[in-house]
Amino acid sequence: MSAIDQLLRSRELLVCVGPGGVGKTTVAAALGVRAAQLGRRTLVLTIDPARRLVTTLGLDELGDAYRRVPLGDLGGEAPLYAAMLDPGASFDALVGRVATDEEHRSRILSNRVYRLMSRAFGNAHAYVAMERLYDATASDDFDLVILDTPPTRNALDILDAPGRLLAFLDERVIGWLLRQPPEGLRARLLARGGAAARGLLSLLAGDTLVDDLAAFLELFVSLRPGFQERALAVQGRLRAPETAFALVTSPLADNLADAAYLRDGLAGRGVVLRALIVNRAYVPLGDHPWSAGADARPLGDALALLEPSGEGERAGFSALLDHIRALRQRIADGNQRAHAAALAFADGAPRGCLKVQAPNLDHEPQDRRALAGLAALIADPRAELRR
Ligand SMILES: Nc1ncnc2c1ncn2[C@@H]1O[C@H](COP(=O)(O)OP(=O)(O)OP(=O)(O)O)[C@@H](O)[C@H]1O
Ligand SMILES: [Mg+2]
Repeated sequence: MSAIDQLLRSRELLVCVGPGGVGKTTVAAALGVRAAQLGRRTLVLTIDPARRLVTTLGLDELGDAYRRVPLGDLGGEAPLYAAMLDPGASFDALVGRVATDEEHRSRILSNRVYRLMSRAFGNAHAYVAMERLYDATASDDFDLVILDTPPTRNALDILDAPGRLLAFLDERVIGWLLRQPPEGLRARLLARGGAAARGLLSLLAGDTLVDDLAAFLELFVSLRPGFQERALAVQGRLRAPETAFALVTSPLADNLADAAYLRDGLAGRGVVLRALIVNRAYVPLGDHPWSAGADARPLGDALALLEPSGEGERAGFSALLDHIRALRQRIADGNQRAHAAALAFADGAPRGCLKVQAPNLDHEPQDRRALAGLAALIADPRAELRR
């Protein structure tokens, strides 16, 4: 069994990180199909709202709720599920879980400051991803959860969010706020903000925003114990031995630079990288099983096939073939450089990290069969990246 298959069989959480546009979502979905084929009840959790994934998985829609992916003859006994993080809806669900009673919950949900915060892009996404992760990995319904992280360099936010949240909740100001009666808090905010700030706030949103802000802080503070507990649990889970981080990249220089930043960022956060997947990789012609079908024959006999009539035509064809040869050489050189760059990057991966490559396919994977095909290539022992 290949090392990738072993990883899919043995882990409970696989987090795919990587630079933008390298194929993280595609690889996460492909590995999800593979894991289900290996008999593991798998969930692919994506943050990428790209419509393409929905159709590739054969679903008509994908949202916050877990959806079963029909695998047909590709699958076995184990089901594959997918869900797409909708930060707003996920945040609401989170409040529902940690708020103590119905009234408490509806007060938060209808609060304007809360709505603004939970729907805004940015850190809110990382918190929600982290919380959803907690939920999914705690569930008995899945043997393996594959998390596809957002298309930014800040996939590290996923790791930082729990700590940042804990730090925020620990700040003395929150403790101070916690001890204030709601009316006192409102009065303090008004006093501290001063006339100018208050004037600006009223101009922007009206006087009641200050009330909403005070109410939000008070409610948020009262959620502290639940958040804190879960943030700590997620922090532990992300570094647990049942969890593996896979770094997906392409062999292009810009992507490798971003990938190096992520690799070092993970190491600095005490996370061990378990797999490096160089996606959309190129290999020299004729040098690898992927290029078995490619025609690597020299163009030498092409001239005879063209059957030129007369010297003029012969010279013309000959010049054309020279152009084609040069073009082919340029492509081969480019592939060689990309391959060398991928190898050099792989040298910097930590010890024990799996290093594999996946070919740049002629056709973008557009259905479950193509995803299964890509996964089979990744899991092929010959995909291992080595000198
Ligand atoms: N091995 C491959 N061969 C050919 N095309 C691929 C391959 N892997 C991914 N693609 C294509 O590359 C594009 C980007 O893939 P994908 O959306 O999975 O990247 P991503 O890293 O998730 O991007 P983002 O950072 O925007 O979330 C898609 O059009 C996808 O079909
Ligand atoms: Mg993506």
